[in-house]
Amino acid sequence: MDPLPLYIGGRFVNGAEPTQTIVNPATGATIARAARATPAETEAAIQAAREAFDDGPWPAATAARRGRVLLEIARRLRESADRLARLETENMGKPIIESEFDVADAATCFEYYGGLATKVTGDVNPVPDEALSLTLKEPVGVCGQIIPWNYPLLMAAWKIAPALCAGCTLVLKPAEATPLTAIELARILDGIEDLPKGVVNILTGDGPDAGAALASSERVDKVAFTGSTRTGRTILRAAAESNLKRVTLELGGKSPNIFYADAAWEPAIEGALFGVFVNQGEVCSAGSRILVERRIHDRFLDAIVEKARTIRLGDPLDRATRMGPLVTAAHRERVAGYIEQGRREGARLVLGGVRPDRELAAGAYLEPTIFAGVDPGMTIAREEIFGPVVTVMPFEGEADALRIANATPYGLAGAVWTRDIYRAFRVVRKLRAGIVWVNHMQPTYVEAPWGGMKMSGAGRELGRYGVENYLELKQVHVNLNEAPTGWYA
Ligand code: NAI
Ligand code: MG
Repeated sequence: MDPLPLYIGGRFVNGAEPTQTIVNPATGATIARAARATPAETEAAIQAAREAFDDGPWPAATAARRGRVLLEIARRLRESADRLARLETENMGKPIIESEFDVADAATCFEYYGGLATKVTGDVNPVPDEALSLTLKEPVGVCGQIIPWNYPLLMAAWKIAPALCAGCTLVLKPAEATPLTAIELARILDGIEDLPKGVVNILTGDGPDAGAALASSERVDKVAFTGSTRTGRTILRAAAESNLKRVTLELGGKSPNIFYADAAWEPAIEGALFGVFVNQGEVCSAGSRILVERRIHDRFLDAIVEKARTIRLGDPLDRATRMGPLVTAAHRERVAGYIEQGRREGARLVLGGVRPDRELAAGAYLEPTIFAGVDPGMTIAREEIFGPVVTVMPFEGEADALRIANATPYGLAGAVWTRDIYRAFRVVRKLRAGIVWVNHMQPTYVEAPWGGMKMSGAGRELGRYGVENYLELKQVHVNLNEAPTGWYA
């Protein structure tokens, strides 16, 4: 099995040994080997991006040209959609229908930023002198982009599209376990003539090596990161101790999904499950804390348990499957550790908590897991589990719901289910979270900002906001008064 190449300076190069084994988590089978970028290889990728930025045509290309390149990337992604979706599922384990959505969303992301390229404008500032004061927007420079394994291709799109829209160059590092679609994306990009060599570099490698090198390099101007809060902190520190590069972070969460007694019943039951079990619960915005108004709590718990029993766990390539394996066996063990801890701390396991047997035994599967009788102080109610595990807790009234909901260092997302629009908006305003859904949970749009408050991150991705992270402002003063100022008269 030939190892996958690194993509540096518009060339596919074989990395030096050793390689990383890539496993299909549904079967445990080895499906590829990926390069582990060495420090020299990481430096070469940064150098390629540096040259493409400092001396290449891309940052100065017209916005229209950059936009067309992005639209062409989108077109080619759609052309390869079936193959990409299959690769994503084989590598990551998510149900094929979710991978299909992800590929379509990735293409939509490139289309959005392709269109936006010609709409990024500066300002004319109304200064009180005979002068023209301009605010120009310029690309921030070389970007290091470090992404996680839960949405491998989509996270690559969220990072690369706005960076290219702004005229930046970049080095993208996929997560160790999930490089397959990133390398495919490199092949797609490599075929686009109007995208100069070295603008996009894709480097598989370990976080503490290649990732850390991007974060601490003096020659990288900005890092964009999605992943754990812990690694986010490390990256911020590396940025502070090197060149004070710009940093945007999209980190973990422990998001509340709040249900009032007056909520439409069936959609609420579905929404409670979809909110946390989509993508096996490996979602930063997972609604992993279900809060239910006390007078419906028992009935609601029974209903979600009954419905959760019908979730089809199985071969992720099967279109009927709604939950695949976790990303790796190691991650499954980590999630199982939380389940064990929940039991030890006295929570009541009402569903799941076990690995399925028989034909699924070889994969990294874990059954959808629901805990009741949960105290907000328990570990499973506080820490991000990042798997198919949810805690259900009762609340008494609005103040109680908000108190529990906001009692977390995280602030990524939240949802509230009620037919009372006044109450819904009171809750919306008081939730300390970057994304709030009313009577739904998880729909995500490239047109709207994405990111968290508190320890869930810094900055926002997507939408018009997303491109701003890749732009510097330059103030330009143009004197329009030809006469001497007379200052030294
Ligand atoms: P991680 O945050 O360590 O990894 C994410 C990315 O960061 C990967 O590309 C990794 O190679 C890179 N990385 C790791 N250490 C680094 C370092 N020192 N410097 C630079 N880059 C580094 O997350 P991991 O270990 O895969 O998962 C641990 C937990 O993090 C999960 O169980 C989950 O709770 C959380 N997580 C949250 C995600 C989110 O979307 N918010 C995504 C992935 C994980
Ligand atoms: Mg880690």
